[in-house]
Amino acid sequence: MSISKVIVITGTNSNLGLNIAYRFIDNTPKDARLTFIVTSRTLLRVKEVVELIKRHVVEVGHIGVVDYDYILVDFTNMVSVLNAYYELNKTYKEIHYFFVNAAQGVYDGIDWIGAVKEVISNPLEAVTNPTYKIQRIGVKSKDGMGLVFQANVFGPYYLIQKLLPLLKAGNGTIVWISSVMSAPKYLSLQDIELLKTDASYEGSKRLVDLLHLATYEERKKLGIHQYVVQPGIFTSHSFFKYLNFVTFYGMLLLFYIARLLGSNWHNIDGYKAANAPVYAALMTNPEFKDENLKFGSATTRGGSEYIKTQDIIPDNANEVYRYIKAKEQEWNVKLKDQIVNTRIPM
Ligand SMILES: NC(=O)c1ccc[n+]([C@@H]2O[C@H](COP(=O)([O-])OP(=O)(O)OC[C@H]3O[C@@H](n4cnc5c(N)ncnc54)[C@H](OP(=O)(O)O)[C@@H]3O)[C@@H](O)[C@H]2O)c1
Repeated sequence: MSISKVIVITGTNSNLGLNIAYRFIDNTPKDARLTFIVTSRTLLRVKEVVELIKRHVVEVGHIGVVDYDYILVDFTNMVSVLNAYYELNKTYKEIHYFFVNAAQGVYDGIDWIGAVKEVISNPLEAVTNPTYKIQRIGVKSKDGMGLVFQANVFGPYYLIQKLLPLLKAGNGTIVWISSVMSAPKYLSLQDIELLKTDASYEGSKRLVDLLHLATYEERKKLGIHQYVVQPGIFTSHSFFKYLNFVTFYGMLLLFYIARLLGSNWHNIDGYKAANAPVYAALMTNPEFKDENLKFGSATTRGGSEYIKTQDIIPDNANEVYRYIKAKEQEWNVKLKDQIVNTRIPM
C-alpha cells in the first residue's frame, strides 16, 4: 500500500488555505493517498474546513483514501506552537508538505478619505499597494513579542524548526506565503519585531522573504525543498469584514478594472491565487533549482492564470536571520520542559 502524503496547511479555513487544499487534490493523481492536517485557532473552523475539503474530494472524484487531522494552534502563543509540534511529532513520522499560510494583521479599519484620494489619483496603485488600511502600531503578543512578527514569521518558523526531522524524513517541501507587498522599504533593522511601523503586515512579509533566502540552503542539506511564493491579490475574509455591500462590490469592481488595466496580480479568485503555492509544492525539482526566486500567481487580462517569478532583493537577510536565531535560542530555554495538551476530541 502506498504511503499517504501528509500535508499541513496553516490557517486552512482562509480563502487561500482552502484553495491550496482544493488545488493540491486537483493536481495529484486521483488514486493518491492524502492526509490533510488543517489548522485553526478554533475547533468550529476546523470542522467547517474539513467538511469543505471532503465535499471537494467527492465532487472531483478523487478515489485515493483521504484522511483528515487537525491542530489547534495560535502562532501568537509559543506554548500553543510547541504543543502543535508535540501533537504532530507524536502522530506522524513524516511530513511531506508544509504550507505557511496563516497570517494576520492588526487592522483598525479603513481611512476612507485616504482611500478615495488614492483610488482617484491612481486606481491601479490603490488596489495593488493600498496605504489606506489602518494598522495599529506597537501591538505586542502575550509572549511579549511584536504580535504580527510572531504570528506571521517567528511562530511558524519556530514550529518548522521543531518539525525539521519529520520534514527531512518525508523529503518535505515547505512553502511560505509572502505577498506582492513585501518591498524592502517595509522593514527596518532597528524594528525587526515591527513594533514601530504602521505597516507591520507588509514588514512581516518582507521578513518571510528574507528568512526564506537565509534558510533554504540549510534545508536543502537535509533534503527539504523550501519556496517562497506570493498569491497576488484576491478576496480575503479577514479584510472584507471592514466593507459593506457597496464597498465590497466597489472594491471587487476596482480589482477587475486593475486587471483590465494590465495588473498581473489581480487574481481575485482564491483558486487562482493558490496556483503558485501548489505549483511550487508539486514542482519536480530534484536539483533544488530556483529556490531563490519568488513564485507568483499571476493572471492575464482575460483571466488566464500563469506563474510569474520575481527576484528577491536579499539585503539584510543575514541580519534578520541572526535576530531570529537568537530568538529561537531564547524560546528554547523559556519553553524547556513545557508540555501542555490543548487537544479536544473532534
Ligand atoms: N488576500 C490577499 O489579497 C493576500 C495577498 C497577499 C498575500 N496574502 C496571504 O495569503 C495568506 C492567506 O490569506 P487570506 O486572505 O486567504 O487569509 P485570511 O482570511 O486573512 O485568514 C487568515 C488565516 O490565518 C489564520 N490565523 C490568523 N492569525 C492566526 C494566528 N495568530 N495563529 C494561527 N492562525 C492564525 C486564521 O485561522 P483561524 O481564524 O481559523 O484561527 C485564518 O485561517 C496569508 O498569508 C496572507 O498574508 C493574501
